[in-house]
Amino acid sequence: MSSREYQTGFGNHFSTEALSGALPQGQNNPQKVGLGLYAEQLSGSAFTVPRAQNLRTWLYRIRPSVLQGPFRPIERAPSLFKSRPFQEPTAPNALRWDPFSFPSQPVDFLDGLHTIAGNGDPDGYRGCATHIYFATKSMGSRFFYNADGEFLLVPEQGRLLLRTEMGELEIGAGEIGVIPRGVKFQADPLDPQARGYVCENYGQPFRLPDLGLIGANGLADPRDFCYPVARFEDKTGSFQLVSKYRGHLYQADLDHSPLDVVGWHGNYAPYKYHLDRFQVLGSISFDHPDPSIFTVLTSPSEIPGTANVDFVIFAARWLVQTNTFRPPYYHRNCMSEFMGLIRGKYDAKQTGFLPGGVSLHNCMTPHGPDAESFEKAVTSDLKPQFLSDTLAIMFESSLPFQVTPFAAGAKELQKDYLSCWKGLKSHFKSE
Ligand code: FE2
Repeated sequence: MSSREYQTGFGNHFSTEALSGALPQGQNNPQKVGLGLYAEQLSGSAFTVPRAQNLRTWLYRIRPSVLQGPFRPIERAPSLFKSRPFQEPTAPNALRWDPFSFPSQPVDFLDGLHTIAGNGDPDGYRGCATHIYFATKSMGSRFFYNADGEFLLVPEQGRLLLRTEMGELEIGAGEIGVIPRGVKFQADPLDPQARGYVCENYGQPFRLPDLGLIGANGLADPRDFCYPVARFEDKTGSFQLVSKYRGHLYQADLDHSPLDVVGWHGNYAPYKYHLDRFQVLGSISFDHPDPSIFTVLTSPSEIPGTANVDFVIFAARWLVQTNTFRPPYYHRNCMSEFMGLIRGKYDAKQTGFLPGGVSLHNCMTPHGPDAESFEKAVTSDLKPQFLSDTLAIMFESSLPFQVTPFAAGAKELQKDYLSCWKGLKSHFKSE
């Protein structure tokens, strides 16, 4: 367990200072800020959106962010961290990949981002991209911010230390971390190898879903979300700031560390959450609800009830329904589903879907339990059953995903995925 200090609550207006006197009292932008700091507002929403969606944080820092640049296109090996459009259209096949292999050379988090699929467009503030990250060395003197969207990080193995303008978060397998659009950070491995999934959300920032008829309790509880406390470094030297902007990477030189925020207050900040805290709800009679009931966070679109992207988990839970086919039902969906596995086994697949792997079922592409899972489900005794060793994740989007050339050509792409359903025979009897 980490002994790091956090502030808790989802989207609260936090106040935190690493040195007493960094935060002004009763005013956000006084003529002179205490400790000789500069005041800088970071806006995560338009100034005028309704109060419930309004996101902003005041940063009290040693130097303002204008002391950077100029930016120039990044001069490194071509990155696999991409936005659409990609070259080739994606056929409406069910797709699955084995766990992605670590690069042969050590990579930091930024060079280790491999885009698997994407949809929408950062210019239109719509859609998302999905990536696998690898991190086997520190980002060193490099920092990063993403103008195209927020990062939802889902570690699958190895811990990451997220050093951000607002303070530090440590995340490991079973947890998630969210870095809002524009926040400068480093992500460094705390173990020899770190790997996981990323959803880069171009749309409205993730928020907790409405609970409707569920009532006031259930799913992710706001009090389980952890935000960093202020922490700063006053360092001069040679640093680089990388920006992703309109699908391209740029780099600027800095003569100081950008992690120089001595105090901050506001509700726009990175956060983390442990998925074991998710209160799973489900059926206690027959049939089962749609997987939307497992939504942890949602980025809504303009269409009510239709997510730009939902973050959904399939966690440990009791199955108690009577007379019910208990694995996920066969279905075709107008939403598109990108899935990963953190640990254990997913209840619709006996083999082939492994931690660090990916499955992709795009708009209207049929999918469901493999033949072996079907046979087990229709012949097993329906006693109450606890699924203990399982944690699968899904990024479900209202826009179909296009696969990158990297993912389409990866050796991990399973050429025989469709064969997992080949054993599903007709059992039809007309009488
Ligand atoms: Fe599905």
